[in-house]
Amino acid sequence: MLKIYIHDTRNDRKVGLRELPRFLSAEEIERAGRFKFEKDFKLYTAGKIIARKMIADYIGIAPNDIKFFIDNYGRPFLENHKIKNFDFNISHSGDYVVLALSDRRVGIDVEKIRLVDFKVAETCFHDNELEVLNRDPAKLPENFYGLWTLKESFIKAVGQGLSYPLKDFYFSFSAAGIKINILKPVADDQTWNFKLYDFDPEYKLAVCAKDRKAPPIVKINNLAEL
Ligand code: COA
Ligand code: MG
Repeated sequence: MLKIYIHDTRNDRKVGLRELPRFLSAEEIERAGRFKFEKDFKLYTAGKIIARKMIADYIGIAPNDIKFFIDNYGRPFLENHKIKNFDFNISHSGDYVVLALSDRRVGIDVEKIRLVDFKVAETCFHDNELEVLNRDPAKLPENFYGLWTLKESFIKAVGQGLSYPLKDFYFSFSAAGIKINILKPVADDQTWNFKLYDFDPEYKLAVCAKDRKAPPIVKINNLAEL
């Protein structure tokens, strides 16, 4: 079952380094300590606190029994023989952290909408997607980030990061929903479902999952309540 969580880090006071061992592993604290900007520190630590707690609830184990590992592509995963059929993915941008949990493979991406140059779109979008962007230049930033988050949610679900060529697939839109068109399919690649969520007009949020049903987003207001 798919679950989506969102948290606005503007609600958080800075979690002091001395408090972190309650929530983060030694490696995570070391990484957190390397962030130059408080904003990035907050996004990273909030992501880890939320992921550990919500994953513990989802699979029914204690938060401290959760240890995150990172694969060769940088994708975090859990290794625990008690845990079968489980996947999660985190994303952060601007002020928000988002988390997706599922019993099957899942990818999530949130991005703050910024001004964009069409030249950047040409480097990462398929010609059919560029044509969609060209139709409404006034909406370029909004449409660019809609497509961008969809693309990134897919490569994050697959797990290969940017080694998956971004022009080897494209999205098309119809009354039936969002469809991915994969030009070089492997295995069961085509069975993904996508959803774009509206939660703040300054952001785009996309989820890529095997689940057909996309649930409403659950807001986490206060980290202290977790
Ligand atoms: N697959 C899936 N998830 C991954 C991942 C991978 N290969 N590598 C890292 N992640 C997870 C991690 O949990 C990470 O957060 P953490 O370090 O706090 O644990 C989180 O994804 C980062 O996602 P997000 O906040 O959306 O960051 P990003 O947009 O900067 O980076 C990646 C996303 C993973 C795709 C990264 O490889 C990257 O470099 N992206 C550049 C952006 C880009 O060009 N996107 C193309 C879209 S058109
Ligand atoms: Mg991203």
